[in-house]
Amino acid sequence: MRYFKKLAGSLCYLSPINPEDYEKYTEWLNDLEVAVNLTLATKIISLPGEKETLAELAKKEHNFAVIDLKTDELLGNCGLTNLDLINGTAEFGIFIGNKNYWNRGYGTDATLLMLNYGFNLLNLHNIILCVYSYNKHAIRTYTKCGFKIIGRRRQAKTIGRKTYDIIYMDIISPEFKRNLPVSL
Ligand SMILES: CC(C)(COP(=O)(O)OP(=O)(O)OC[C@H]1O[C@@H](n2cnc3c(N)ncnc32)[C@H](O)[C@@H]1OP(=O)(O)O)[C@@H](O)C(=O)NCCC(=O)NCCS
Repeated sequence: MRYFKKLAGSLCYLSPINPEDYEKYTEWLNDLEVAVNLTLATKIISLPGEKETLAELAKKEHNFAVIDLKTDELLGNCGLTNLDLINGTAEFGIFIGNKNYWNRGYGTDATLLMLNYGFNLLNLHNIILCVYSYNKHAIRTYTKCGFKIIGRRRQAKTIGRKTYDIIYMDIISPEFKRNLPVSL
């Protein structure tokens, strides 16, 4: 068994990361269509480097693999980082590396699962994220999940000889209406 259903949605589930998946991650993170939306486009992602990174990621904070509920196929990764458990804050990040699965609802499903985990298990109060202003696809996905734009850092991203804003979005606990997907 490679994956475990920590939280299951309607299309995917969140599983602890399997460090043996580093080849798949290396392939995805070298795909510029994926990486231009992350902070990784200018980084060299090699097999040995990714093997180490993934092994670390699997151990620390709250990072999960996103797995297709029907096929148990690895689709990507999401997580909450920079946790402050006194004030109940954290930062959300996600990528669906398998592009065949884009625009089929998986990003929304995984984001809602991660919010459920954050608000109903970690007792967080505020979850923030940042996204490049050209990433309309992600902004739409986050808006569908209840994130609101709270500000922008102007011209803080330069790519393709153009500058773009970094947009900040957040969601607070009372705005997230779902309960834990288990009965108590
Ligand atoms: C962003 C990402 C997680 C979204 O995942 P996904 O599985 O495609 O998301 P969903 O299918 O649940 O929802 C996508 C929504 O965006 C919309 N969309 C797609 N491209 C769009 C565009 N160019 N402009 C506006 N909306 C767009 C879709 O129509 C859909 O909205 P709808 O349901 O109202 O029609 C995924 O594309 C991804 O991992 N991208 C690469 C990495 C990345 O950008 N990560 C986020 C960094 S902040």
